Amino acid sequence: MSEPSRGNIIAADDTPSSLRFLADILKAEGYEVRSAINGELALRAALAMPPDLMLLDINMPNMNGFEVCRHLKEQDKTRNVPVIFVSAMSDTLEKLKGFELGAVDYVTKPYQRGELLARVRTHVELHRLRQRLEEMVEERTRSLRKSEMKLRSALFDSISAIAATVEIRDPYTAGHQRRVAQLATAIAHELGLPEQMIEGLNLASVVHDVGKIKIPAEILSKPSRLTELEFAMIKQHPQVGYEILKEVDFPWPIAHFVWQHHERLDGSGYPQGLKGDAIHFEARILAVADVIESMSSHRPYRASLGVEAALAEIDGNSGVLYDPDAVRVALKLIRKDGFQFKHHETFDHH
Ligand SMILES: [Fe+2]
Repeated sequence: MSEPSRGNIIAADDTPSSLRFLADILKAEGYEVRSAINGELALRAALAMPPDLMLLDINMPNMNGFEVCRHLKEQDKTRNVPVIFVSAMSDTLEKLKGFELGAVDYVTKPYQRGELLARVRTHVELHRLRQRLEEMVEERTRSLRKSEMKLRSALFDSISAIAATVEIRDPYTAGHQRRVAQLATAIAHELGLPEQMIEGLNLASVVHDVGKIKIPAEILSKPSRLTELEFAMIKQHPQVGYEILKEVDFPWPIAHFVWQHHERLDGSGYPQGLKGDAIHFEARILAVADVIESMSSHRPYRASLGVEAALAEIDGNSGVLYDPDAVRVALKLIRKDGFQFKHHETFDHH
């Protein structure tokens, strides 16, 4: 970073006098010069410490300038080092070959000092600017990734904390939200949805019943059938969940996913009676996962209906109540791929 020199150059020429002449011009101009008397040495020097520029003679024994250039372009470390060929050959074909190999310029011997320096300066500067830019982009990407990861885990932590508040009051649905999240994200993966979208679906799933916080605990854990009034209270939970979450500025419309998780394709769901595409795809996936998990688990008012009953319900109403793609994939995951809920997973409340 704090390099005082104007640039680091490797010069290669098998004629000692030519090499010295070239090196002297560059040094006088303030460049740091490493001189190589043949191609191998030039290549080795470049790999040991990539320079800002290579000046290569073409005709050298064993490894000529073209070969050195080819090797440089093959290595990640030296791929971007600009190469200028310096040669007595003024043949156009030779020049073309040099450019094809990735050289940035070509200087014909004998050369004018000023012309040589002008070309050197341009390419050294360009190279350094590009490197600076690359470093800045890398640094920026690194810090973005770091803050993104921090943000992600902070998001997940706060969502989990919210989820835990409901589950403390309602031991019967403890773990329900997490298990729904497992299935919903598995369905989304199987459908090939983008990671970014799956993340939003996951967070929404983990808190989808947060609105139950407003329902009296004795209703939630009532071992007998609910009265109409009690059921009406339960039906408010998607709305309440929406109210709780809508002020949080998530990168996804999580509050809407929660609001819509009891909506059904044909408009028979609640609270808004939305139909088809008016329901977010995430909410439609969430609905399928929710129904399957709920029916397969024990509830205060009934024993588990069993996974098969749950699958029969969604299969029988595919395209009517439930999104057909989500249903198809859910059936495949459970019947063919052996998907299982992790039933021991509950929140830590300390
Ligand atoms: Fe719900």
